[in-house]
Amino acid sequence: MSDNHVTTTLAEGVLTLRMNRLDKKNALTQAMYTAMAEAIESATNNTEVRVVLITGDASCFCAGNDLVDFMNSPATPGGTPVERFMKALSAFEKPVVASVCGIAVGIGVTMLLHCDLVYCGEKTKLNMPFVSLGICPEFASSYVLPRLMGHVRAAELLMLGEAFTAETALQYGLVNAVLPNDQVEAKAQEKAKHLASLAPKAMRITKMLLKKWSNATSAEAIDFEAGYFIPMLKQPEAIESITAFMQKRKPDYSKLA
Ligand code: COA
Repeated sequence: MSDNHVTTTLAEGVLTLRMNRLDKKNALTQAMYTAMAEAIESATNNTEVRVVLITGDASCFCAGNDLVDFMNSPATPGGTPVERFMKALSAFEKPVVASVCGIAVGIGVTMLLHCDLVYCGEKTKLNMPFVSLGICPEFASSYVLPRLMGHVRAAELLMLGEAFTAETALQYGLVNAVLPNDQVEAKAQEKAKHLASLAPKAMRITKMLLKKWSNATSAEAIDFEAGYFIPMLKQPEAIESITAFMQKRKPDYSKLA
């Protein structure tokens, strides 16, 4: 494992991938994306891995991309660690389960759209504050979200960028079930182990069939969104938004057109 903020454990066919940078609310660095990408890539041909489970801890799933990393090493097209991770996740042929508690922001929500089963703690706050950061949706979320929940709900989540509850996530079809925080990971592990005990080839073919009809558009959406997202990171709206976050103040867009 190439990063100590991500740990992996394999038990009963379930590879648990745990984000563990709690002092920064599991904000994802380039090294963490690389570690997670490597774990998923190597799970592909490891017959001992039947299922991947992604989690943080009972207080925090993921506060999104590390905003300091965004400023210091903005993404460039092709081959960035986040792209490697998200493409590995969305192409992974085996089931992926997520156990989500506390906070899920930005890519912490986007990655859930590429998982198969999602269990969520009842106190979880989810948020996709892309516009509030002067950037736009990425990794096919602008394609998947309206299909999942309809345009007006997706617009509400993506345009207002306000935090929403686990109950809303359940109602909108983003998660399978909402449980007390201290029971979420146990439920996710139980479901992951059940998946891992089932016929592996039938499982892979079922997942392939579920995704087959949207795969090409999803891949097209990822590239199309990146064509906007990557340049936007270097523009004044994102710079002001991220600087304001780091300086713990409200952003000021009054001079921007
Ligand atoms: N990138 C970098 N650092 C982050 C971070 C991020 N995405 N999210 C949280 N942190 C850091 C904070 O700066 C803070 O660091 P400090 O202790 O050195 O000041 C620490 O994590 C704790 O965060 P804090 O804001 O004090 O916790 P909170 O519980 O009050 O709020 C959040 C949690 C997630 C709501 C809030 O931190 C937040 O809005 N983070 C930004 C989320 C975001 O915009 N992500 C990118 C989406 S694309």
